[in-house]
Amino acid sequence: MGSKTRKKMFFQEVAEAPPDPIFGLGSAFKADPRKEKVNLMVGIYKDDQLRSELLHSARGAKNNILNQDLMADYLPIDGHPELIELLGPIVFGAELWKANHGRIYGAHTTGGTGALRVGAEFLAQEVSKTFYVSNHTWPNHRSILERAGCQYDNYPYYSREKKGFDFEAMIAFLRTLPEKSVIVLHACCHNPTGCDPTAEQWRLISKVMKEGKLFPFFDFAYQGLGDGIEKDAESVRIFLHDGHEMAIAYSCSKNFSMYCQRVGVLFMVDENSAVKMRVGSQVKRIIRALYSNPPAHGALIVAEVLKNDDLKQIWIKDLEAIRKRIHLMRESLIQRLMTKAKAINFEYLKSHKGMFSFIDMDKSQAQRMIDEFAIYMTDNGRISIPGLTTKNIDYVVNSLSTVCAKR
Ligand code: LMR
Repeated sequence: MGSKTRKKMFFQEVAEAPPDPIFGLGSAFKADPRKEKVNLMVGIYKDDQLRSELLHSARGAKNNILNQDLMADYLPIDGHPELIELLGPIVFGAELWKANHGRIYGAHTTGGTGALRVGAEFLAQEVSKTFYVSNHTWPNHRSILERAGCQYDNYPYYSREKKGFDFEAMIAFLRTLPEKSVIVLHACCHNPTGCDPTAEQWRLISKVMKEGKLFPFFDFAYQGLGDGIEKDAESVRIFLHDGHEMAIAYSCSKNFSMYCQRVGVLFMVDENSAVKMRVGSQVKRIIRALYSNPPAHGALIVAEVLKNDDLKQIWIKDLEAIRKRIHLMRESLIQRLMTKAKAINFEYLKSHKGMFSFIDMDKSQAQRMIDEFAIYMTDNGRISIPGLTTKNIDYVVNSLSTVCAKR
């Protein structure tokens, strides 16, 4: 057959996509034969034996609902209504929720990622297609915004020179932005840097955004993993108190161990209940075309944890235990690094909060960690602290000291 007449196959020119910056190395890690290998890549909570299992509270809730979870019907487009009513007070605090819930719409979504995707599409449709994400940020933010038809740019957040949050640079930049720009904010436990604004700084960020008529879009994926359930929600509550219209993409993956169940909520804080109804109708339209309606099982588990007093107490304890282990591992890491590598200043790690710490290193150093030491991490220097254990910490410290010393 001549080349002109030869039928071209449809997929012949499909280009291979680059691997995901966080999940992409998973199979390489699995296949790596080195016994000493350490996985510090994905933000998953693991215990000191590296088990990633359901929290005690979620386990109890799962047992309670198992025999009642016989429903084969669809959930409504915006999911399990009880989940919204139960998570509302956790996110906004009981009093603020009571005072404002008539104007806060909530849709139960397929994880925090689903909430971000639906929220981005809604905001692109109704507010603006111009988004700003922090420099650095969770890489999936950019992919989600692209898919939702938004344009994005960075706002200054982390300074390599200061080795921390650059508050002045962020504020100065926010003041230059056009009205209606959407600003993606990390409510707590900033991913990947681990550096959060203080409450005082959040107040000023809120003020500057209100003055500049900028729209806040919170990604809230780590409530309870930083300083505690209440304290971690301070940013969102400050903005609610200041009267912003805003969106919050909430995830139950980490704080309820619902990773594989995909439980999230998109909260939309509106001007009043009439606007809430109309906002809800548009959000539902977007969900219907994306995935129709969310899965039920995980949402029933979270709802059971929150409405059963005993399980809720166990949940509070579960989160305390998670915070304690993360704190302990970060402390040990810092202490050991400071003893082992006296010439390098690792003080900056002390200000980090939540699941991640951001090691000051470049891509080639992160690659060396993998190639020479079988310590897998993302190429921006982020490590997931729960991947550290009392067994592997000395090995990680020795490797980090070697790699960070030679610059
Ligand atoms: C992470 O940042 O590692 C987690 O949020 C998991 C993910 O989906 O990327």
